[in-house]
Amino acid sequence: MLGRKEMAKLAGIDVGNDSIKVVLDGTYKPLIVPNIITPGYDRHILQEEDSPLKALDVIVYSPALKQNNRRWFVGQLATELEDNYELEETDNKALSDQSLIVALTSLAYAGVAGTGNGNEGYAQTDEVEFIIGTGLPVRTYTKFHESFEARLIGEHEVTFVTSPQLRNRRIKVRIRRAIVSIEGAAALFNLATHDNLQVRDEEIYNGCIGVCEIGSLTTDLPVVNRMSIDNNFSYGEQMGMANYLDAIMRDVEDTYNYSFPSRAKLVTRVKNRDWTIQRIGEGQASIQPIVNQYFERAAQRIVDLIKKRWKKYPDIQCYYVIGGGATALKSHILEAAGPIKLRFVPESELQNVYGYLKVARSRINQAGYVE
Ligand SMILES: Nc1ncnc2c1ncn2[C@@H]1O[C@H](COP(=O)(O)OP(=O)(O)OP(=O)(O)O)[C@@H](O)[C@H]1O
Ligand SMILES: [Mg+2]
Repeated sequence: MLGRKEMAKLAGIDVGNDSIKVVLDGTYKPLIVPNIITPGYDRHILQEEDSPLKALDVIVYSPALKQNNRRWFVGQLATELEDNYELEETDNKALSDQSLIVALTSLAYAGVAGTGNGNEGYAQTDEVEFIIGTGLPVRTYTKFHESFEARLIGEHEVTFVTSPQLRNRRIKVRIRRAIVSIEGAAALFNLATHDNLQVRDEEIYNGCIGVCEIGSLTTDLPVVNRMSIDNNFSYGEQMGMANYLDAIMRDVEDTYNYSFPSRAKLVTRVKNRDWTIQRIGEGQASIQPIVNQYFERAAQRIVDLIKKRWKKYPDIQCYYVIGGGATALKSHILEAAGPIKLRFVPESELQNVYGYLKVARSRINQAGYVE
């Protein structure tokens, strides 16, 4: 019934410096893969992992990659290893090989795994085609959105090596179109609209709204007026949770001689409020005071940024604080903000990816998209 071209899947993908989030149109359960890689090698598998996501072991080819046809451990498999690469402040996600490797691996997996729609097993296809919505930070958007789009569009290939259920599967990932939005602003579009794109929240849709989206390496502060981004007042900071997480890890190491193999490992503990570390031969210690100290500092900085923006632009009706950092820092931010009212939302770190999908969908609807 459908021609081949109409079979492209529509997907939102947030290429986060901390984690890549993918959501396929028509499904609700997002796929989240830590943005961490390490060079792959022949693994000794004593017991096969119970999910492919725990063992993304891939060879990736893409015309946009500098290092091609290399084997990588991606996501969770890499978080345990000491020689893993996490992104640094100087990395630009529009140009980063690592981010592209994790993004393509995630799309290949999402494309064949039928994530979230209750499919049993895996489709037999070894080719998946996408139209994707994605985004860049306020600071990098203008200069890099075209090159980001160009890197994504085209034909890539991901071969799963030892991943359970996907062993030796080679998946062609074809990206037909990429619609690049702005981090934070897309999140607001998601909050303002229903799934069918009708207005859900008049105040956001028609108002002048401030956003503070706290990511891993960037914090974006777009101002959105009647759903249009304000060119003069929108602004981005080259800092995020990673700066504070790294400082916490250094401090824990200095104080207790205990080192975390990755930021992701520390974050898992913070999320689970699992503060106790085991010191070598020296009993246990709690990292909570150190975490609190840095999180308070981070929260104060965020509140100062917001206050400064709001003073410059008093038309802003309300401020939404979102992104993974908002969840992490919420109690500290509320405390630091005092009488200033700030708004938080659930599923904070997923608002962008839901927004990217909606922006892509609306763009395609508008264009009566045929190609
Ligand atoms: N519930 C939580 N508790 C503690 N930390 C969290 C929580 N949720 C997310 N984080 C951390 O907050 C940071 C920001 O997460 P987020 O997913 O927004 O980043 P990202 O989108 O990958 O990064 P960027 O926006 O810089 O590209 C990450 O370091 C993440 O590990
Ligand atoms: Mg982000």
